[in-house]
Amino acid sequence: MTSTVLILNGPNLNLLGVRQPHIYGYETLADIEAQCRTLAGDLGLAIEFKQSNAEHHLIDWIQEAREAAAGLIINPAAFTHTSIAIMDALSACEFPILEVHLSNVHRREAFRHHSYVSLAATGVIAGCGAQGYLLALRQMAYLLARAA
Ligand code: DQA
Repeated sequence: MTSTVLILNGPNLNLLGVRQPHIYGYETLADIEAQCRTLAGDLGLAIEFKQSNAEHHLIDWIQEAREAAAGLIINPAAFTHTSIAIMDALSACEFPILEVHLSNVHRREAFRHHSYVSLAATGVIAGCGAQGYLLALRQMAYLLARAA
């Protein structure tokens, strides 16, 4: 069994650092990837880190992960609140899925309070900024070790 964890990022997250930094912070997606790589090394995990603005790319990557990954961390961005297709793809996965949001979506507009993705997620982390990705990686390491 592989110990590769796939970390997926949805639309507009390529603009992190310059996009509404008062909400999403000043760290770029590349900064977050670098932090994840360092922590993953410490935890003995391999990671693949990807971003797309296109729903079908995310779905294709989730489907590929069914064979290739041990677990999935996903910040689906706005697709969180709209995509039954991403929820269905995630529901077809048997490994742990952790949903991450930089912002506390429950403290924001009402349309962000509902997540289709949460219906398929093992756990959810929101409002912890970039640290949320690192918390998710630690939780993933715990879940994978427990299942081994
Ligand atoms: C987000 C929250 C979503 O509501 C929003 O559409 C995003 C980012 C977050 O990380 O806080 O693009 O997923």
